[in-house]
Amino acid sequence: MQDASLNTPYFMIDEAKLIDNLEKAKQLKEISGVKLVLALKCFSTWGVFDIIKPYLDGTTSSGPYEVKLGYETFGGETHAYSVGYSKQDVLDVADICDKMIFNSQSQLEAYGHLIEGKASVGLRLNPGVSCAGQDLADPARKYSRLGVHADKIQPQLMDQLDGVMFHMNCENKSADSFIALLDDISDTFGLYLDKMEWVSLGGGVFFTWPGYELEKLGAALKAFSEKHGVQLYLEPGEAIITKTTDLVVTVVDIVENEKKTAIVDSATEAHRLDTLIYDEPASILEASESGSHEYVIGSCSCLAGDQFCVANFEQPLEIGQRLHVMDSAGYTMVKLNWFNGLKMPAIYCRRASGEVQKLNEFDYSDFKRSLSQWSVS
Ligand SMILES: Cc1ncc(COP(=O)(O)O)c(C=O)c1O
Repeated sequence: MQDASLNTPYFMIDEAKLIDNLEKAKQLKEISGVKLVLALKCFSTWGVFDIIKPYLDGTTSSGPYEVKLGYETFGGETHAYSVGYSKQDVLDVADICDKMIFNSQSQLEAYGHLIEGKASVGLRLNPGVSCAGQDLADPARKYSRLGVHADKIQPQLMDQLDGVMFHMNCENKSADSFIALLDDISDTFGLYLDKMEWVSLGGGVFFTWPGYELEKLGAALKAFSEKHGVQLYLEPGEAIITKTTDLVVTVVDIVENEKKTAIVDSATEAHRLDTLIYDEPASILEASESGSHEYVIGSCSCLAGDQFCVANFEQPLEIGQRLHVMDSAGYTMVKLNWFNGLKMPAIYCRRASGEVQKLNEFDYSDFKRSLSQWSVS
C-alpha cells in the first residue's frame, strides 16, 4: 500500500519509531530491575501489541474494559485500577487481573474480600507532591480524589495490602525532579513501604524524551527498591508511544479572515481531543519556522475555536494537499469520537520493513450504531 492511495484522515503508527522507544524501556529495566506495565488509558490500539509485548511486562488499566483488553490482547501481568469500582466491576475483573489496586480505603474495605486468593491487593496513595504542568492533570491538586493521603491512612488496613501505587507525574522530563519525589515518598511512607511486596510509581515519567538521564533514573529506582525491599513498577503510557504516529489529513478549503485558515478533513474535538483540552497546539511535519506563508490549521468541526495550530510554510498551501499532524497517538486514539458525524480516521501501521498494514477502518455503520441500535416502538 502506498501512502498516497490511503484515504485521509488516517493514523500511521511507525514501528521503527516505536521500537526506538521500546529499546529505551528495555535499557531502563536492565539498569533498575523495574517492571513496566503499559498504561492502556494512553494507548490501547491492540493491533500493534505484538510489537510491544516482548519489551514490557503487561498492562495497567483505569476501567473494567481496559482490564479485559489487556488480559485478552497483551497478557503478561494485568493490573486493575479504577478511581471508582462498582461491586460488579470488581467481580468482572477479579479472575483475570493479577493485581487489584483500590483508590480509597472505603473501596478496599467494601470489596477487598472479593479478590481474596485471586489477585494481589493494592491501594493508591497520594504523596501530596507532584510534577505536572497543568492543574487539570495534577494528581496532587487541591481536593484531589486520587488516592489516600498520608494523614488519612488507617494503619490496620495497610496490613491487608501486598502493594501500593503512587501516580504523581505528567510528562516529567527531569530525572532529578522525579528523584526528589521519590525521596519525599520514601520519607513519608517508608515504614509502610517496607512491609509491601511491590510498589508502583505510576506513569508520567518521560524517560524516552531526547536527553533524558536514563541511567540516573535507573540507579535511583534500583536504590529505592533495595531500600524498601520491593519490586518496583512504572506504568508508562506516553513515554512508550511518543513521536511514533502521524494523523494524516487533507486540506479541503482555504479561507481568509485577516489570517489564512487551511481547513482540513479532521477536527481536534473529534480526533485529537487533548489539543483542545490542554490548549497545546499540534505540530505539522510540513511546516517550517522560516516559511513566510502563515496558516491557521483549522478543523472541519463546527466549533469556532477548533484548530490544530498556527504554522508557517515555505510554499502556499493548496487544496488537496496532505499534512501530517505529528505525535498523535497518546491519549488520542483512545479518545476518538463521532462529533459532527465526521469520518473516523482509519488506523495503519508502517512496519519496519516499509510495508503498510491496516489495523482498522470505520464507516457510516459504526457511526450509526454508536448512537442507537434500536428505535422506540
Ligand atoms: C495511575 C496512572 N498510571 C499511569 C498513567 C500513564 O501516564 P503517562 O501516559 O503520562 O505515562 C496515568 C496517566 O494519567 C495514570 O493516571
